[in-house]
Amino acid sequence: MSTDKLIIFDTTLRDGEQSPGASMTRDEKVRIAKALERMRVDVIEAGFPIASPGDFEAVQAVARAVSESTVCGLARALDKDIDRAGEALKPAAASRIHTFIATSPIHMQMKLRMEPEQVLEQAVHAVKRARGFTDNVEFSPEDAGRSEIDFLCRIIEAVIDAGATTVNIPDTVGYNLPHQFGELIRTLIERVPNSDRAVFSVHCHNDLGLAVGNSLSAVLNGARQVECTINGLGERAGNAALEEVVMTVQTRQDIFPCNTGLDASRIMTCSRLVSGITGFAVQPNKAIVGVNAFAHESGIHQDGVLKSRETYEIMRAQDVGWAANRIVLGKHSGRNAFRTRLQDLGIELGSEEELNDAFARFKELADKKHEIFDEDLQALVTESGLEAGNDWVKLVALKVCSETGEIPNAAVTLWIDGEEQPATASGSGPVDATFRAIEKLVDSGTELQLYSVNNITSGTDSQGEVTVRLYLDGRIVNGQGADTDIVIASAKAYVNGLNKIIRRQEREHPQLGDV
Ligand code: KIV
Ligand code: ZN
Repeated sequence: MSTDKLIIFDTTLRDGEQSPGASMTRDEKVRIAKALERMRVDVIEAGFPIASPGDFEAVQAVARAVSESTVCGLARALDKDIDRAGEALKPAAASRIHTFIATSPIHMQMKLRMEPEQVLEQAVHAVKRARGFTDNVEFSPEDAGRSEIDFLCRIIEAVIDAGATTVNIPDTVGYNLPHQFGELIRTLIERVPNSDRAVFSVHCHNDLGLAVGNSLSAVLNGARQVECTINGLGERAGNAALEEVVMTVQTRQDIFPCNTGLDASRIMTCSRLVSGITGFAVQPNKAIVGVNAFAHESGIHQDGVLKSRETYEIMRAQDVGWAANRIVLGKHSGRNAFRTRLQDLGIELGSEEELNDAFARFKELADKKHEIFDEDLQALVTESGLEAGNDWVKLVALKVCSETGEIPNAAVTLWIDGEEQPATASGSGPVDATFRAIEKLVDSGTELQLYSVNNITSGTDSQGEVTVRLYLDGRIVNGQGADTDIVIASAKAYVNGLNKIIRRQEREHPQLGDV
């Protein structure tokens, strides 16, 4: 039945990063972008280049690294934003500029303080300017879900005439209901005279838990691009979850007249990568990517599934990349087997040095833990890609004493700017004592906003994956660490966070600031 292509536009690196605390470094964004490219995502929105020099650099780095997917940069309908986006996207094999301006009465009056005619004029001007950089231009009337239909029709017709090739309809505040949003898309396509010259897209927020439902209803009414994020990350309650949109369309081909070109077996890799990097754990009962998504607990269900899988399962776990805790490598596995398995997992390490570093960590881990699972490899590589060349602080040794009735104590040795320095501290628990000892040495002034531990696989020999969120002078970073010893994992995560929030050059030349 499937005829049309449904374009998947991933905005994990842009709207996803707008989730409070989900900041990612440039290298982390490149790693995620490569995983998305491998999954055959059509368009990757890599960031908002005007927002900061860091955002600009990240979009540029993704544009350099990705060749199979179109790389997109966001820009308000302002010349300076569009020029900056155009500049950042220069290295891309295929680029898109996504420009937007609000069209709802409340946004135009209260936020922009502009008349509708001025908004329309600015939108047309922005699209024409963006076409000077690329012939692939997307326009979004922000808060379209609360905009007046007549004005929406006029502005959409005008931007298509000006050269917009995609028209994206955002439900910016997640206010619409599925039947209503579907109707909106159908009406726009029917009423806008030149609608056949652009792809209609949707971008739904999840404030009422309806982002996926609204997106799918739009697809049934003619939308042929969905904007979404891995694990549904995004501003406030998030965006439509990519994995849910893709799997619904794929599973219900009896209903949908279109399909995506995605390699769904890469979904789990992307999901783990994004949750590891951002520190946003996936809830166990999350559709598709939660640990319980394919687990059958009740006896009746188990019995049914054993007799015939289809009794209770509408998809196969392996189709989305769940590899039933397969033991992949062991202590005697060589460097080639290690590299091949990483490639199978869609993990590409930037350099030979990174591969060597990851392989050394793998050998260390294999000594402690006999069975190495895919999840272990993913955590290990997340650790290896942590910009080690730029580190000014490293964990050399850690000893903790924790005993019933006694105050826990930690003795830590750090390598700081080329010198080994020891410190001891006590605390309310072994992790608290460890962080205090580290702080005695670095005196960073950071605020710890989040501390979380997840077991990577099941069993008491599992690695603990720790995320710490650190705040300093308006910047937030997530530090990660993994180890079979969760106190060591915690120390690694803290040190990783410190390296991200205070770069070496900033310590040596504080006047350089956030470059
Ligand atoms: O939610 C929204 O309206 C957006 C636009 C920039 C598309 O993120
Ligand atoms: Zn949004």
